Amino acid sequence: MDKFSEKLLDWYKINKRQLPWRNSNNPYYVWISEIILQQTKVSTGLKYFNTFVSKYPTIFDLSKSTEEEVLLIWQGLGYYSRAINILKTAKVVTNKYDGIFPNVYNDLIKLPGIGDYTASAILSICFNKPYPVIDGNVYRVLSRYFDVNQPINKHASKKIFHDLAKSTLDLKNPGDYNEALMEFGALNCKPLKPLCHTCVLNEKCLSFKKNIVSLRPVKVQKKQKKVRFFNYLVPFDLENNTIIIKREDNDIWKGLYEFPLIETSKTLNSDDLIYMYSLPSWAKQDGIFISKIYEKTHYLTHQELRTVFWLFKNVNHKFNFSLNSLRNYPLPKIIVDFLDNLVL
Ligand code: ADE
Repeated sequence: MDKFSEKLLDWYKINKRQLPWRNSNNPYYVWISEIILQQTKVSTGLKYFNTFVSKYPTIFDLSKSTEEEVLLIWQGLGYYSRAINILKTAKVVTNKYDGIFPNVYNDLIKLPGIGDYTASAILSICFNKPYPVIDGNVYRVLSRYFDVNQPINKHASKKIFHDLAKSTLDLKNPGDYNEALMEFGALNCKPLKPLCHTCVLNEKCLSFKKNIVSLRPVKVQKKQKKVRFFNYLVPFDLENNTIIIKREDNDIWKGLYEFPLIETSKTLNSDDLIYMYSLPSWAKQDGIFISKIYEKTHYLTHQELRTVFWLFKNVNHKFNFSLNSLRNYPLPKIIVDFLDNLVL
């Protein structure tokens, strides 16, 4: 076992990327970076991290912010409840712990949005405590090296991988070990085209020996994504002002802003839209020009959103949002894409 962690740490010393949260053991930085990295790769996450900490250099600055401001920075990352939880946790840590992150597992996991993964990352990286961190990279490296044929996306496998990660953990440098394992998965033991022939661990990698690296990790077939049909009504009044509404539904994008939405069970044409559905009164006036101006399918983890934007032009009703002002609100990516493509 020792060899595995030693070789991994040696590799990490030479190959690790210089990243801003690696220059200190500041739990605030590690926390924010790990939440961001749960949903995107390092190259994208880096930009979000830098924007985030330059706007909120400390947890105190963050705790004074608003949901809307934090969502605006988070825009495009997805999983917006994570941004809302970050703000909640900043407030708890500031008020209950005087701004000092707790260093005890059971205290950490009580904070909004902090589960086993983030708590273990903070404890190992910032406080040198022996908690293994298991993300997708770690599942892949361990399942290949030890040839684990249990599906990584089944709940029952969690313990197997947790035990493996714990038993290989370097107790002197648990933080470096955890980061090394994730970094190794991201850079070397990649999902496609892993660099097996030059890999420092290939001598004892069971999947490499058996020539089954491409068959690891094993995953069970996921359920089909739920397909939803979104119709956004985009009105422009005579001065090209429009309307957006804060989304309150708990399903997705809570707290973000969007155009008035009609969700249907199938695709609509413009006649369906005009005659079949209860439109807002501003959409039912004579002389309105209706056209489909943009459509795109947006993929979320468990949903496929087939989205159509319907332009309602010359609406004889005054709206409060100028086109330019829309960018000041946190918007789902599909709305940003629409605005980026809008030619009036
Ligand atoms: N992915 C998630 N967290 C990471 C980290 N700390 N280092 C490298 N990759 C990661």
